[in-house]
Amino acid sequence: MCGIVGYIGDKDAYPIIIKGLQRLEYRGYDSAGIALSQGSDITILKQKGKVSDLEEYAADKNRKGTIGIGHTRWATHGVPNQKNAHPHSSGDGKLAIIHNGIIENYDSIKRMLSEKGHEFTSDTDTEVLIHLIEEIKNHEQCKLFEAVRLSLNEVIGAYAIVVMEEGNKEEFIAARKGSPLVIGIGAEEYFIASDATPIIEYTRDVVYLEDGEVARVNRNEKLEIKTISNIRKNPYIHELEMSLDSIEKGGYPHFMLKEIFEQPSSVLDTLRGRINPETKEVKLGGLMDYEQKLTKANRIIIVACGTSWHAGLIGEYLFEDLARIPVEVEYASEFRYRNPIIKENDIVLAISQSGETADTLAALELAKEKGSTILGICNVVGSSIARLTDAGVYTHAGPEIGVASTKAFTTQVAVLTLMALKIARLKGTITTSNFRNMITELEMISDNVEKVLKSNKLIKEVAAEFKNVQNFLYLGRGYNFPVALEGALKLKEISYIHAEGYPAAEMKHGPIALIDEEMPIVVIATKMGNYEKVVSNIQEVKARGGRLIAIVTEGDITVKELADYVIEIPECSEQLTPLLTNIPLQLLSYYIAVMRGCNVDQPRNLAKSVTVE
Ligand code: M6R
Repeated sequence: MCGIVGYIGDKDAYPIIIKGLQRLEYRGYDSAGIALSQGSDITILKQKGKVSDLEEYAADKNRKGTIGIGHTRWATHGVPNQKNAHPHSSGDGKLAIIHNGIIENYDSIKRMLSEKGHEFTSDTDTEVLIHLIEEIKNHEQCKLFEAVRLSLNEVIGAYAIVVMEEGNKEEFIAARKGSPLVIGIGAEEYFIASDATPIIEYTRDVVYLEDGEVARVNRNEKLEIKTISNIRKNPYIHELEMSLDSIEKGGYPHFMLKEIFEQPSSVLDTLRGRINPETKEVKLGGLMDYEQKLTKANRIIIVACGTSWHAGLIGEYLFEDLARIPVEVEYASEFRYRNPIIKENDIVLAISQSGETADTLAALELAKEKGSTILGICNVVGSSIARLTDAGVYTHAGPEIGVASTKAFTTQVAVLTLMALKIARLKGTITTSNFRNMITELEMISDNVEKVLKSNKLIKEVAAEFKNVQNFLYLGRGYNFPVALEGALKLKEISYIHAEGYPAAEMKHGPIALIDEEMPIVVIATKMGNYEKVVSNIQEVKARGGRLIAIVTEGDITVKELADYVIEIPECSEQLTPLLTNIPLQLLSYYIAVMRGCNVDQPRNLAKSVTVE
């Protein structure tokens, strides 16, 4: 979702900001813009489309300035066009703002400002906010820092904003509530961005702005931070750990393919240090103080969105099966608005790659208000969800840039497996031999992911065969039902082919009507679990002429005879199959999307990090 980048220092701001915006392209956007100043006037350049369109537009314009703010906009209020693109300026043109989020009460503020004579040139809520700041600054005769703080007291909604002022090339003001902002500290220079990716090549020292904080970022001074209710805060400087390599394509044509192929190492990173090599016991440092709460939990409520919700469904099977704890998996967007019942000894567990998804964050806040213990599984270190939760486990997948989640999903499932095993062991709901078997298999999982990736060529052939179809059906049972849902989501989001995931047995209650010679059906039919039952479902598909792509266990004979294409995974316990079966489905979606000419890393209308509801 919208990206923010800013720079103050003695260097040319334009190339730094453009590069930063390119690094944020993965978040999804439909227009881009930049405001620059040398100290006097503010130049604003903006354009519909990609950052490259902005660069083309700006090529013959004034791009001078040692202070600048840049933005990629994902349209909420007003269509994506040049006039609605950020930055927006105040009525007198002396202030410029970039904003990520939604000002919910913008309409009433706009009416109040219009009555005072303000005129607006865009359809955005953001322009209303900068006029409000201008109005308050003039009325109160105060500095910009104070004007921003006072204005935010009038605002309902979510925001990350950066505001700069004509005549002041030393300073900008930033604030956040609900949308992330990171400030990078250099030598007499500051950077600001929606996440650390635009900052990492310049400095490792960063301050994550907290919700409800306003910062005065002046290049000659230390950071000054206050809450919007005017309480002074001490900035806490974190050291970034990510590497520059991890946010570049490394020779792959797309981030998505790179991230699919990174899975052997990302899963290894997730497991690293969490299985004792001698005792073979699981240790989750982040949850150590909550072990008792987890073993005594009456219920775990998992809240998440999209792919992370699918990982949560696998978590449900794992926790119930291994640790014997009842689980509910909720769409965060539904949970937050339905007055949920949370009882004593219930634990709410959020799963989120970005740690910034607005609905998941709000669901957690609600659970916290209701007195629940809130835990998290996040990928992005220091993200809002990671900071809000009482405790949690990082997935350590490394930055995921492709909008379609791949390695984030696999590593979330790996963490859920570790958690379920740990609780099961503490509660004694798993036999020692089963526990040891699963640990041995987990230790081999990275090699097995590597083996599955070797089917790459075959999957490309399958993709070529099916790239022009209109619909796809994905079927699975038990642990692989959520994998079927995830496979369907992956295909539709990047190839725009309509796809649905179903529990295989549910097919005969409706979707079977769709099956004819045109319909490809991807079925997960690994040994263990409900193999025979899935074979019966396959027979039902075959009897109606459907074309079958089956994911099977190595050495399978029965399904091989029935299916048109067969992709093998190494044998493993049913509980661990999702870590392997999801990989061919990622590759299938990837190749179909590439063959259809789709932009796989930035699919239309989608954003990587959904920071608005
Ligand atoms: O960052 P999160 O895991 O909270 O994101 C949730 C969803 O927006 C996300 O999983 C989305 O469904 C994926 N990009 C799909 O591939």
